Amino acid sequence: MSELKKTYLHVFDESTIYNVNKLESDGYIGQLSGPIGSGKESYVFLSTDLQKRKVAVKIHRHNIESFKEIPSYLRFRGSKTGGFLKTIDDWSRYEFTFMSKAFSVGVNSPEPYRLFRNIIVMQFIGEDDTPANTAVKDTNFNLDSWYTKIIDFIVKLGQKGFLHGDLSPYNILNFKGEPYLIDFSQALKLTNFTKDFLVRDILNINNWFNKLGKKELLNTEEIISRIDKNL
Ligand SMILES: Nc1ncnc2c1ncn2[C@@H]1O[C@H](COP(=O)(O)OP(=O)(O)OP(=O)(O)O)[C@@H](O)[C@H]1O
Ligand SMILES: [Mg+2]
Repeated sequence: MSELKKTYLHVFDESTIYNVNKLESDGYIGQLSGPIGSGKESYVFLSTDLQKRKVAVKIHRHNIESFKEIPSYLRFRGSKTGGFLKTIDDWSRYEFTFMSKAFSVGVNSPEPYRLFRNIIVMQFIGEDDTPANTAVKDTNFNLDSWYTKIIDFIVKLGQKGFLHGDLSPYNILNFKGEPYLIDFSQALKLTNFTKDFLVRDILNINNWFNKLGKKELLNTEEIISRIDKNL
């Protein structure tokens, strides 16, 4: 076992270590380096797969502390049976499913490669071993073109029947001057019941661009009517 895995033994439970080893023996990942990102609920590592592609490995933590309060929107995802570990795996599965849909409709996002339980292996967005910065850190982009693109992404996701759910400059990477959406872990199917989450995403983007000095923002209703006139 690599040093890094030993280091993370204290944060990852045994089943996660098993899952990492399984992905490694199946060639989807190699040694982990990093982490390149970490949040309350996940770690993201850089690795290389058997095909020599750079991959990002997002591991949702099997940590009961951070999952004590399952966010209220999870109720929109239907029943949760099968216990705690399954809930964490569901989280990864939702993220993987929605990221796949986003990628399939041409929204800039990492290409999802493999899902195994609580681990997602996806395209690494970055150059050499350096991940692209979030749009919080790197605001070196064209305001008008980014606004148009990000609104178009929201509309494309909506037309595909879902919403990102946590859209903010923290979950947008600036890769070679282009916006890439990441972190689909809070995505939801778009219905009349989840429309408020879509509105929140749009307002987050509008507020952010407003602060950056962009004039002529589209209003929420106009964006929603591009998605579906009946919403
Ligand atoms: N495909 C990727 N390529 C490069 N860097 C990535 C990639 N995915 C994630 N990252 C890095 O890891 C950080 C955390 O990723 P992400 O936003 O998906 O996780 P999180 O905020 O911890 O998610 P969650 O809300 O699921 O706990 C990102 O801010 C980004 O810097
Ligand atoms: Mg995030």
